[in-house]
Amino acid sequence: MNALDTIRQRAGPLQPRIAVVLGSGWGGLTEHITEAVEIPYTDLAGFPQPTVAGHSGILWLGRIGAQTVAVMSGRKHGYETGAVDGMALPLQVLKNLGCHTLVQTNAAGSVRPDMPPQSLMLITDHLNLPQHSPLVGVAGNDRFVSMVNAYDSELNRLAAHIAKGLGTTLFEGVYAWFLGQQFETPAEIRMAQRLGADAVGMSTVPETILARHLGMRVLALSMITNFGAGMSSELLSHTHTLSQAQEGSARASRLLADIIDAIE
Ligand code: HPA
Repeated sequence: MNALDTIRQRAGPLQPRIAVVLGSGWGGLTEHITEAVEIPYTDLAGFPQPTVAGHSGILWLGRIGAQTVAVMSGRKHGYETGAVDGMALPLQVLKNLGCHTLVQTNAAGSVRPDMPPQSLMLITDHLNLPQHSPLVGVAGNDRFVSMVNAYDSELNRLAAHIAKGLGTTLFEGVYAWFLGQQFETPAEIRMAQRLGADAVGMSTVPETILARHLGMRVLALSMITNFGAGMSSELLSHTHTLSQAQEGSARASRLLADIIDAIE
């Protein structure tokens, strides 16, 4: 059976309208899901089989506040295979399921001295530094997707408003995508700073491009787990990313749940 039919069969009366992709540190969001139905990616034809610790590989269906959601706990990264279109099928399926909005989350390094670890950042734009596209080979004129307002300014205003109400500082900035899977060099971090980046990471950008091609609105949030290479004496590692992400997790998930609840 194809993934869409499997999901429809198990969803019962749930009709998700908002798709969410959870990156490292954002797993706490699932605690805010009621009427939850869990579907392991292993049951979903064409969904990614995650290889990274901290990414669980489960599709959650359920409700967050007033919204019905489809939450992907775990994504496919470009660095796993070199192909950057690993999320094309899952996002197409979630769009076909009825999702009009994609909410993305990730863990990222800060390249701004005034944005320390544990900060939360709304992504307002991105730099596709590898210049890889998940749309390569796609046919049709709509493959030439506009990336203006890719991170929906209305959703961004809403997120800023909710954060303010909670008294949570929400930075705003540009996310620079590095393919990975090695961390950046200090010279690459200085380059990112000069190019106008605020944060660096290894995900999210391909999914934003795919979602815009599908006509979905995108909102994206980064949890800052470290300063970029060379900016502090911290040693970078995935273990460090996960431990920092764990610490900021409850606050981040609460903010995210409230934002999702408020989406029109
Ligand atoms: N670089 C790239 N990806 C990351 C980082 C980083 O410093 N921190 C968390 N994900």
